Amino acid sequence: MTEAPHPPIPSFVHHRSRLTEGQQHAWDRWWPERGHDVGDILTGAEPYDPQAWFGRRAPLVLEIGSGMGESTAALAAAAPDVDHIAVEVYEPGLAQLLMRITEAGLTNVTLLRGDAVALLDQRVPPGSLAGIRIFFPDPWPKRRHRKRRLVQPGFVALAAARLEPGGLLHLATDWDDYAQQMRTVCDAEPALENTAADRPGGWTPRPEWRPVTKFEQRARVEGRTVHDLVYRARRTP
Ligand SMILES: C[S@@+](CC[C@H](N)C(=O)[O-])C[C@H]1O[C@@H](n2cnc3c(N)ncnc32)[C@H](O)[C@@H]1O
Repeated sequence: MTEAPHPPIPSFVHHRSRLTEGQQHAWDRWWPERGHDVGDILTGAEPYDPQAWFGRRAPLVLEIGSGMGESTAALAAAAPDVDHIAVEVYEPGLAQLLMRITEAGLTNVTLLRGDAVALLDQRVPPGSLAGIRIFFPDPWPKRRHRKRRLVQPGFVALAAARLEPGGLLHLATDWDDYAQQMRTVCDAEPALENTAADRPGGWTPRPEWRPVTKFEQRARVEGRTVHDLVYRARRTP
């Protein structure tokens, strides 16, 4: 690989946030069973082993930045035959997702705490994911912070390499210039093709099935348009 797969600096800022009482309870009860630390997986203290985590071999979708877990839980409930890995650094969000999946009795979600880019780079095998989802990544709107944006050429090449042939990279953002950046970067990645190439601007219509999260709600209130992009990993000839 000629380009560093990592954004030069992390795409997130890790604030230690207090858990609510309910979140703490869910964390203590369920994290040991349903959660894993990316740090442990990177050091080799624990394997990256979806088959063991889920007790089966099924199509695997990895979400980067699951936030409070609304989309993750809803999409996992709607697709019981697909296993979902939610990667997030924000503990209250992970705790909230634990509450959602245990209340709903979902067994097809595993939570990972830590940097999804390092995980993809160092542990996720090439060609192993049916999908990668990135919904409303941190927009880093100030020009001097743009280098923190997740969706950059090296990252997109990495994501494409982790998808199985035909696997989908689904991106959504409410920041116009980030949407343009995503499209430019993904269009330039030879291993990907835009599934909506024939539609105006190459944008995918907002899928009905994606729940409206706090971030999308705020975008609507503030008058920003949401853009979805769905790229497919090409089958190598
Ligand atoms: C703006 S929030 C959106 C959350 C959620 N997808 C939604 O639509 O509500 C972006 C989230 O991505 C997480 N994040 C950013 N970079 C990440 C990385 N490299 N690995 C894991 N999580 C990351 C942040 O902690 C944050 O919670």
